[in-house]
Amino acid sequence: MARKSTLIQKDKHPSTQSSEPLINVSDVVKSFKTAGEDFFALNGITFNVYPGEFLGIIGKSGAGKTTLVNMITGVDHLTSGQVSVNTNNRKVSIHHFNEDQLALWRGQNMGVVYQSFQLLPMLSLLENIMLPMDLCGNYSPSQSREKAYELLRMVELEDHAKKLPKFISGGQQQRVSIARALANDPPIIIADEPTGSLDSITADHVFGVFETLKNQGRTILMVTHDKSLSPRFTRTLVIQDGELAHDSQTEAM
Ligand SMILES: Nc1ncnc2c1ncn2[C@@H]1O[C@H](COP(=O)(O)OP(=O)(O)OP(=O)(O)O)[C@@H](O)[C@H]1O
Ligand SMILES: [Mg+2]
Repeated sequence: MARKSTLIQKDKHPSTQSSEPLINVSDVVKSFKTAGEDFFALNGITFNVYPGEFLGIIGKSGAGKTTLVNMITGVDHLTSGQVSVNTNNRKVSIHHFNEDQLALWRGQNMGVVYQSFQLLPMLSLLENIMLPMDLCGNYSPSQSREKAYELLRMVELEDHAKKLPKFISGGQQQRVSIARALANDPPIIIADEPTGSLDSITADHVFGVFETLKNQGRTILMVTHDKSLSPRFTRTLVIQDGELAHDSQTEAM
């Protein structure tokens, strides 16, 4: 696919909300080398995220949602553009970090729920959740164990704490991955289809956990293809063919 211009470029954040953007995504392009020509999964996406937003990122399968998330978390390299994040009065361009710096920064600032869970197979559920705490050094080992149990209780998996991920279901793994993302109390939570493998009742419970986190002041970006969730976000972006096709904030102006 050739690169096209973005459908929506301008940031029209209402002037009543004077806070600085927490995340700035600026003209982000991502292309993948394929057998033939380069494939542009993102065609130049620009938007800001403000503190306290609960942002829904919606779009069809293949639209570019996971690719966009990977650009914001720095899990994958961008082709061009920039992503900067401003936490604790420190603004960083995350793609200027090296791998080690980024891992440490992300551990302290972003909780990421991956679409494919990404639990470490040789660690128990408890150890998977303790790992980010142990890497960042914010908690003593006994505190991180206690916190990991607390998080497992929140996602109703405390009884499975000592199991390896392969011995629990996909939906249970998804819930562990959500618990792990919250381990270091990050100000930003980025979740890629965090309810995609859950039944409707469990999905509603998990969505409620995110709503509580939002009410506690966290900023949340959540990918979903479930349009019915739109009213429950403070703002929605629609991604279509690698472009920002719709921003509910712009519509509200
Ligand atoms: N590593 C890759 N190499 C080549 N193409 C890729 C790669 N990763 C993603 N793509 C392509 O980029 C496009 C966007 O993929 P992406 O995973 O971001 O979609 P998505 O919106 O998250 O879809 P879903 O809802 O199914 O998770 C798709 O056409 C996909 O095939
Ligand atoms: Mg995806």
